[in-house]
Order: sequence, then C-alpha cells, then structure tokens
Amino acid sequence: MRISRSAAFVIPLLLASPVIPGVAGPASPERHPVPAGQRALLAHEKEIDALIARMTLDEKIGQMTQPDQQYLASPRDIAAYHLGSLLSGGDSDPKRSNSFADWREMIDGYHAEAQKSRLQIPLLYGVDAVHGHNNVVGAVVFPQQIGLGATRDAGLVEEVARITAKEVRATGANWTFAPCVTVPRDERWGRSYEGFGEDTTLVRELGAAAVRGFQGPALSDPLRVAACAKHYVGDGGTVWGTGRRDDKHPTKGGRLDQGDVQLEEAALRRIHLAPYADAIAAGVATIMPSYSSWNGVKCSGSRQLLTEILKNDLGFQGFLISDYAAIDQLPGDYRSDVKQSIGAGMDMVMVPEKYQEFIATLKGLIEAGEVDKARIDDAVRRILRVKFAMGLAPGARAASDAALAASFGSAEHRAVARRAVRQSLVLLKNEKRTLPLAKDLKRIHVAGRGADDMPMQAGGWTVYWQGLRVAGKPEARIPGTSILAGIQAAVSKSTTVTHSKDGAGAEGADAVVVVVGEEPYAEFEGDRSDLSLGQADKDAIAAARKAGKPLVVVLLSGRPMVVTDELGLADAFVAAWLPGTEGAGVADVLFGDHKPSGKLPMSWPRSNAQIPVNVGDATYDPLYKYGYGLTY
Ligand code: BGC
Ligand code: BGC
Repeated sequence: MRISRSAAFVIPLLLASPVIPGVAGPASPERHPVPAGQRALLAHEKEIDALIARMTLDEKIGQMTQPDQQYLASPRDIAAYHLGSLLSGGDSDPKRSNSFADWREMIDGYHAEAQKSRLQIPLLYGVDAVHGHNNVVGAVVFPQQIGLGATRDAGLVEEVARITAKEVRATGANWTFAPCVTVPRDERWGRSYEGFGEDTTLVRELGAAAVRGFQGPALSDPLRVAACAKHYVGDGGTVWGTGRRDDKHPTKGGRLDQGDVQLEEAALRRIHLAPYADAIAAGVATIMPSYSSWNGVKCSGSRQLLTEILKNDLGFQGFLISDYAAIDQLPGDYRSDVKQSIGAGMDMVMVPEKYQEFIATLKGLIEAGEVDKARIDDAVRRILRVKFAMGLAPGARAASDAALAASFGSAEHRAVARRAVRQSLVLLKNEKRTLPLAKDLKRIHVAGRGADDMPMQAGGWTVYWQGLRVAGKPEARIPGTSILAGIQAAVSKSTTVTHSKDGAGAEGADAVVVVVGEEPYAEFEGDRSDLSLGQADKDAIAAARKAGKPLVVVLLSGRPMVVTDELGLADAFVAAWLPGTEGAGVADVLFGDHKPSGKLPMSWPRSNAQIPVNVGDATYDPLYKYGYGLTY
C-alpha cells in the first residue's frame, strides 16, 4: 500500500471508525470509483449530452437559478428566464392562504409555466420539509430531528421521511432541503434540534436512513422526492462569538449560527464530514453548502470543500444548491461572489430575490471568460442528472398527483408520528415509581405553558420560519393533539383532568403534570447563552410542588437545558424535545402504553458553565451522559 503524505494523519481515524472511501483523506478519482449509491445518477449521460448540446447559454444559466417564488416579478419569468427551480423559503406561502389546496394550486401553476419554455424542462420545486411538510397547514408534523435521534430507530426515521415525501408530492413539490446531517456540538446553537445528535456515528446512520426514506429505492418513484443533505460542512461546530451579526438585535449577534469552524482537517473530516459520505452512499441527489466558514473561509466559496473533497474525494455526482442568499456573504461585490462560488463548484444558486441580477452577472462572467464554460456545463449536467433520474426529462409532467390528496395529514400518517413521539421521549428521572401514572386516578392536574400549546410543541420551521408564534401574525391553529388533549383522551371516564398555566389548582389532585420549555425559534434567532428555564416555568413547577403530590415535569425543548434545580423538585422528569402535532404520544409514555425507550442524543449539562459538553470530551462529566435514558 502506498501511503501518501495526506494519508499519514488519516490512519488513526480509519482504525477508529468504519472505512468510508474519501472521508479519511484525499483520494484520486481512479482509486475511488463512483460510490454505488450514486451510479443511478449516471444512467442518462447520453441524453444529457444531447440536451446540453441544444441548450443556449441563457437556458443553461436558467437551470442554475433558483428564486424564492415570493420574489418572482411574474410567473411568466419561469419560462422567460428558463428557470430550473423555485423554492418556498420558511415564510414563503401561497398568497391566498396556507392551506393544502392553495399550496397545490400555486406549485402546479408554476409547473405549468415551466412547460411554456422552449425546452420544457420541468422544475424542481424545493421546500424545507424538515419534520413533515411543515409549512403547510394540515400536514402531519413529526418530532424535530433531535427527537428522532433519541429513538435510535433508523427504520422509523426512514418511514417518517417516506411519509413526508408523500405529503410533499401531494402539493406538487418534488425536493426537500432535508435531512440536516449536522453534528451539533454546542447546545446553545439555535439549530441544535435540526440535527439527530452530537455523535457522528448516530448522524451517519440516521442521515442515511432519512435519505433512503425521502428518495426511495429509485428517484423515479413518483411518491418520493429528491433529498438534500445540509449544511455542508461543520455548521454545528462553529465557535461562540463568530456567528453572523444581527443588525436588528445587535446584542444577539455574533454568537454561533453561520459562524466559523476552527478545526484541523482531520477533526473536520472525522466529526462533521463523515455523515455526507453516508448520505452520498445512500444516493443523495443534492447537498447544500453551509453559510458557515471553515478556518475563516466560507463553505459556499471553498473549492477545496465543494470540488476537491465532495465531488472528487467522495464521488458526489448530484448537484450543490447554495443556501438562502449565502453567496452574498462572500467577500467582495456580487460579481466576485458569483465568480468565486460557481468557480468553487456551486451548481445551483438559491438567489433568492434578485434573480435577474444573478443571471446577468453570471452571463457577464462567462462572456468575459472569468467563469469557465466547462464549469457551467458540469453544473447543468449535474442538475439534469437529478431531473432525468426523477423522470423529469423535457416535456415530462411534474404536477401534483390528485390521488395523493386524501393521504395528506391522514390518520395513518399521524399514527406513525405518534409512534415517533412516544419513542423519542427520554425519561431522565423516575423516583417512587411515579411513572407510569394510573389511568384511573380521581384527578390529575395539568399545568405549565406548554400543556396546551401547539407552537411550543412544534418548534421552529412550522408554518412560519421561526415557528407558529410570530409577532403580528395570528397564532395558527394547526390540526393536531396537544399534550393536554392527549392526557384527557388517555385517562378513564371517571378521572377529572384540571388545567392551569401557572400551576394554580394543583392542591388536592392525585398527580400533577407540568409542561414547560422553550418558545419556538429557528436558525439564528435561537442562539442562547443561558439555557435555564424562564421564570414562569420555574414558578409553575414550584407551585405544583407545593401541592405535595407526585409531580411529573415534561420539558419541551430543542436541546438539553439547564434544569438541575427543577430535576430536584420533580419526582419524574421527561425530555420530550419538540414532538410536533401528535401530543398523544406523550400520554402513551405517561400512562404506561409505551415503556420509555428514548436515549439522549446529546449530553445533558449540569450548568451553563459546562456548555458545550460532548461525549468524548477529555473531561466528560455531564449531568446525564450521551445515551442515558431510563425506563420503567
Ligand atoms: C436555511 C436552510 C434552508 C433555506 C431555505 C436557509 O436560511 O439555512 O436550512 O433550507 O434557508 O429556506
Ligand atoms: C426565509 C427563510 C430563510 C431566511 C434566511 C426567511 O425569510 O423564509 O427560508 O432561511 O429568510 O434569512
């Protein structure tokens, strides 16, 4: 065996974890042939050659352009600019309403516009279906990925992704920006819940399962969608204080999100890169480079990361989609942003607003010889590979299938979500055999802000970008079961369930359940330096404790929180993550219909001072270790 210079640092890693071609270090293409999972993307090269030969430069650039639909000057621009793709960002809903029918009509309308273009190449329509088809009112909303990480159940993750794909297809979209294969290493990060957990091995396994669930055995399956592994690479490993500044909230800026990863290459590969190799092996069609940087270089502009490592070493044959306006953050003016990113290997740009400017800029760069024509052909080829593999050749039908409407948000889909919820709960404490609660207690008092609160249960990326509780917008009532409703449905006919937000009225009950936790948040806005509970939650727990009855605390959060004091007050304590619409899954665990089986996907800190804490740390002494979880 020839040991190259670059292979020297790699050997210890190979011993530590299963070998994945390309992950441990650079490799030449001939030594690492195309991974088996990527070969299906290469099945139509001849047809693609012929199509590319017929395409004008404008048509090629159009395929590489992805506006957010809300910024289209007119739907006619889809054909006029030969657009290859559109997306709905987190707040980009149909104009009339957020209903299933309006989503379907909107997306089908755009597909019809694409058929008016000369080549009639169908659109890829992308959405953030990250825990169900979560932007659409009426979709089943699954636990956020952190909760799925607690289940340790790859089969379940695959099933959740399969159902999500079907609901996405029912509205006519055919691409989801999921799964997030981040490895969140700092619980203060507001995107921690989008990851499966802090351990690379877990993310590798569940990330690949999600890709299989979204895409199915073949991308041509009309019930599946193209997946997108994100955010490449190291988004969960940024250093506190290096994040994007928030002009609206200057005190909040510069924390973690979109920050800088300061790691040597070997550690980056071992911790953060490995899940991409598994996603690639599972056939992932697209990958989204991250807003964040690695040792000061933005991922969206790094030729080493995008071309050398991802495409050459790992053998990725699909295409790269930039994050929302991410290339605008590269140094220099917009022209240099476009030049750097496309040159580095970006294939499609999520513009999302100024698409005319992007198109003109890229065209100017090509005509000036500053962006290579071969690079453009490579980008277009990669996009067309995904389309052809999905059956989206020129003239093909890309619209929604009316037959799927009946299954959207169906009881059958909700039953799987309920199963995911009950498997995701982690029992942190259970003294005096408090759980399971008897179903025939005379009175159960349910308290806390989270007991009857769908926004808290669902978290961010649910109907709205930052979650359902958005200032100035009505709190959407999304169909589902609150935890309170789940408890009411579980108990015997003779049991009385009383409820108060603040814990008042607990006296005299036979057991008290208090549901507390975090307000919804998403990327950027969710970074926090203090992960303690708020005062209202502490007060509700204290009030309930005074009743002197068995006290169960249920925590709704996107990450471990600092609850050392509250754990002391509670008889039983359940980490429920962000379970989504099926609160009955929580009742299943409280009342003994499902023995707790979830295991911590992140280490649980004792104090704010101990954060970040991760399994494998040199001094590792969390309150509860990674993998901890009781049963009864
Ligand atoms: C997020 C991505 C998301 C994209 C489109 C970005 O701000 O980082 O995760 O896919 O927006 O909504
Ligand atoms: C969009 C998100 C996007 C974010 C980026 C929001 O308005 O809805 O999808 O990720 O902007 O800043």
